[in-house]
Amino acid sequence: MSSWSHRHVIDLAAFSLDDFGTVLELAQRFRVMPTSGARKLPALQGKLMTSLFFEASTRTRSSFEIAAKRLSADVQNFAPSSSSLSKGESLLDTARTYVAMGTNIFVVRHRCAGVPQQLAAELDASGARVAVLNAGDGLHSHPSQGLLDLFTLARHFAPDAPTPEALCGRRIVIVGDVLHSRVARSNLWALTGCGADVVLCGPPTLLPDAFAHFVDAPPPGQAADPVGQRGTITLERDLAQALAGADAVMTLRLQKERMQQHLLTSLDAYHRSFGLTHQRLERCGKPVPVLHPGPVNRGVEMAGALLDDPAACLVDEQVTNGIPVRMALLYLLAAA
Ligand code: NCD
Repeated sequence: MSSWSHRHVIDLAAFSLDDFGTVLELAQRFRVMPTSGARKLPALQGKLMTSLFFEASTRTRSSFEIAAKRLSADVQNFAPSSSSLSKGESLLDTARTYVAMGTNIFVVRHRCAGVPQQLAAELDASGARVAVLNAGDGLHSHPSQGLLDLFTLARHFAPDAPTPEALCGRRIVIVGDVLHSRVARSNLWALTGCGADVVLCGPPTLLPDAFAHFVDAPPPGQAADPVGQRGTITLERDLAQALAGADAVMTLRLQKERMQQHLLTSLDAYHRSFGLTHQRLERCGKPVPVLHPGPVNRGVEMAGALLDDPAACLVDEQVTNGIPVRMALLYLLAAA
C-alpha cells in the first residue's frame, strides 16, 4: 500500500499496476468484512465527504454515500438546482464554501469533461488540502466504475485472491456505445493496465476505428504511462466473431441523451446485431459472465431474460462491489 501517491482520482490512465493492486486488495478486505450497522469502521471519523453532482445518478451517488458512512465519515449532498449557482456563483467559489465548512473529499460528477480535474488544480493552487474524486465527467472518465468492474472481474476469475494478475491474458469483450461511454474509456485503461486483451465491438457510428489506439499514448498533460506492458485493444465489428473465445463480456448503455444525430437506424436493428442473449453467448464456447454499468435499456443492450439471470449476469454483483471499491478510494484519499 506504500506506493499510493494520488491526492486526487481523476483518470485511470494515471494508475500503475501497483495502484490497481492496492485498490483491489483494500476493496477485497472491505468486501469480506461486515461493515454496516454497529460494525461500521471508524477510519474516516471526523472527515467530511461532499458530493457535487451536476448530472443524474442513481448508483454512483448512493454508493459513494454508503461507502463514506460505512467508514464513519460525514456526508454532505449538494443539489445544484437549489443552490447559489443559480445566482451566478462559480463552481470554484461553491467548492471553496464547502472547504470552509470542513470538506476533506469532493466527489464530483459533471456533464463536461475536465471539470473535476480543473477543480482539483484550482483547489490545489488555493492551498486547500482537499481531495477530488471524479464520479464521471462527460465522455472522459469514470474511474470508480472502471475499478469496480475490474474488481468484479477479478473476483469472478479468482474469488479468493482478486488481484490484477487474475485479469492477465483474459479476452474481455466490450460491446456497444463505446463512443459516448466514459465507463468504456476507464475500463480500457484499467483492463489493459492489468494485462487483459480487450476486444471492442459495435457499429462504426458508435465505435470509431481510432479506439484501437486508445491506450497507445498517455492522455495530454500526462508525461508517461505508469504501466510498462499493457494488454491489447482490437476492434471487431461482428458480434459472433468478437465473442468467440471470450472470457467475459461487458455491454454498455446506448446513451441516447448524448447522441446528437441519428447514429442508429433503429433500436430493434441494434439489438439484432449487438444485443446480448443467452443464445448469442454460446459463441463464447463456455459460460462467461456479462457485465453492464447500468442503467440498462432492457431488451436493447441485453435481453431481459439475461439481465434477470444471476448465474450469467453480474449487474447486481457490480453494484454490491461498488461500495467496497469506493470505500477503498475514500480510505486512500483520506490518508494521502
Ligand atoms: C454510467 C455513467 O453515468 O457514466 N452509469 C454509472 O455510473 N453506473 C453509465 C451510463 O450512464 O450509461
